[in-house]
Amino acid sequence: MQIVKYAFQQHGDDRGMLVALEEYNDIPFEIKRVYYMYDTKEGVTRGYHAHKSLKQILICIHGSCKIRLDNGREKKIVSLEKPYEGLYVPNNMWREMYDFSPDAVLMVLASEVYREEDYIRDYDTFLKMVKEGLEHA
Ligand code: TYD
Repeated sequence: MQIVKYAFQQHGDDRGMLVALEEYNDIPFEIKRVYYMYDTKEGVTRGYHAHKSLKQILICIHGSCKIRLDNGREKKIVSLEKPYEGLYVPNNMWREMYDFSPDAVLMVLASEVYREEDYIRDYDTFLKMVKEGLEHA
């Protein structure tokens, strides 16, 4: 499984740092939604789903967390701990977010507005869909 982790351009001067993200230039899709998680309680794991068509970039803009990615055949763990790093999570990818530091703010840039019908929340259904998708590839 190929992990796509971006290191965004940092604009720094003696005042501090700044990162700017533009759709299609820095982010490989049109950004239709932004959401973020904060005050995540110790020991909590979030996510436990995949998406049929949604693509996302995950940025831990403060603190740190870990992301477990699973494409149905392989699993990989990615640490996000820099505000200039972005993890690309394509559709048909099961994700779990965990190990949030108390100060973590995990921001998500999404290619679609929120649509519950796009979620695959059952792991066995996810495995079945991935398998069927591969068979039709
Ligand atoms: P949830 O899907 O459980 O978050 P995660 O899978 O990342 O842990 O979402 C938590 C709640 O927020 C749920 O009631 C749905 C709502 N929500 C929105 O209204 N819009 C959104 O864009 C997202 C991601 C969630």
